[in-house]
Order: sequence, then structure tokens, then C-alpha cells
Amino acid sequence: MNSALQDIQFIRLAPQHISEVTAIAQVSYPDPWSAALFRAELDNPVSHFYVMLLAAMIAGFGGFWLAADEAEIMNITVKPECRRRGLGKKLLQYLLEQATYLGAKHAFLEVRESNIPARHLYLTAGFQETGRRKGYYSLGNEDAIIMRRQLPVSSPEQ
Ligand SMILES: CC(C)(COP(=O)(O)OP(=O)(O)OC[C@H]1O[C@@H](n2cnc3c(N)ncnc32)[C@H](O)[C@@H]1OP(=O)(O)O)[C@@H](O)C(=O)NCCC(=O)NCCS
Repeated sequence: MNSALQDIQFIRLAPQHISEVTAIAQVSYPDPWSAALFRAELDNPVSHFYVMLLAAMIAGFGGFWLAADEAEIMNITVKPECRRRGLGKKLLQYLLEQATYLGAKHAFLEVRESNIPARHLYLTAGFQETGRRKGYYSLGNEDAIIMRRQLPVSSPEQ
């Protein structure tokens, strides 16, 4: 894909995206979400899931659950052939902006200890490592690193 980053669009996850998003998850995670799990997000009132389109093609997806003033970021994923071009950073930035707009004051997430690309991405986006959940990922019995950051105060639209 050679499209410029200006061609990016974000839209809400919809039923017609589920099969492609599931296929991207399968090549991106050791324990990918199933189509049923993604479908459940469509009806989950706390869920805000988006797909990232690059020149009208799905290049990634991700979402967050909003509870009180906390956003739990999840499933930030860029299609393998689109990585290392700044798209992960754009996707994360978009999710943080949406969460801020909807009233979140903090964002947090869990990431596999061995997932160095994702940990770097989150560190560059201002997250700090604040804890660890021992053996959180049953596949591989791997620890999760918990990362958090504050969000800017959302000002009402002028
Ligand atoms: C993590 C992921 C979303 C990053 O997407 P990406 O489009 O490649 O990321 P970007 O090009 O925007 O890179 C942003 C920063 O992430 C870090 N990064 C990304 N890939 C990296 C790699 N392979 N090694 C080290 N750091 C990496 C760098 O800090 C990079 O900033 P820099 O380019 O200025 O050095 C992508 O690798 C992915 O989809 N992985 C599989 C799914 C996954 O594990 N998601 C995270 C779940 S917690």
C-alpha cells in the first residue's frame, strides 16, 4: 500500500467489517479474538470500536471500553503489510482523542511482556508502565504489563 497518511479515515466497526478484521487479528495475535467476540462489540454499550481505512481499504482497527472516566484501550492492530509507517501511532491518537471527547480522563491497557513493538508505541504516546499481571495470558503463561496515561481535559466545542 502506497497511499499517503492523509488518506486515512476512521469509521465505527460495522457488521460488514467483521470477517476482514477477524482475518487481520488471526495474523497479528497468538490468541486472536474470534469473529463472535468482535461481533459482540457491536452491541456492547461501553464499547467504541473503529476501523482505520487507508484509501478506502481496511488497514487496521482498535477500540476502547469506556467506564466512568477510564478508557481501556484494546486490540490496536495494523495490518502486517502496513506497519512501520506511522499508522499505529495515528490509530492510537484517534482512539485517545475519541475517549477524551467522550469524557475519559485516563487511559489504560494491558500488553504482553514480549510485545516490544506495542510497548514502544505506547511509551512514545505517553503511557507509563504502572504494573504487571502475572500469567495474565494463559497462552504461553505470559505476564501482562499494565500501562496508563492521563488524558487532556476535553474542552467543549466552540
Ligand atoms: C503494535 C502495532 C499496532 C504498531 O503499528 P505500526 O503501524 O507498525 O506502528 P507505527 O509505525 O505507528 O510506529 C509507532 C511506534 O511504535 C514503535 N514500533 C512499532 N513497530 C516496532 C517494532 N517492530 N519494533 C520496535 N518498535 C516499534 C516505535 O516506537 C514506533 O515509533 P518510531 O517509528 O518513531 O520509532 C503493530 O505492530 C501491530 O499491529 N502489532 C500486532 C498487534 C498487536 O500486538 N497490537 C498491540 C496489542 S497490545
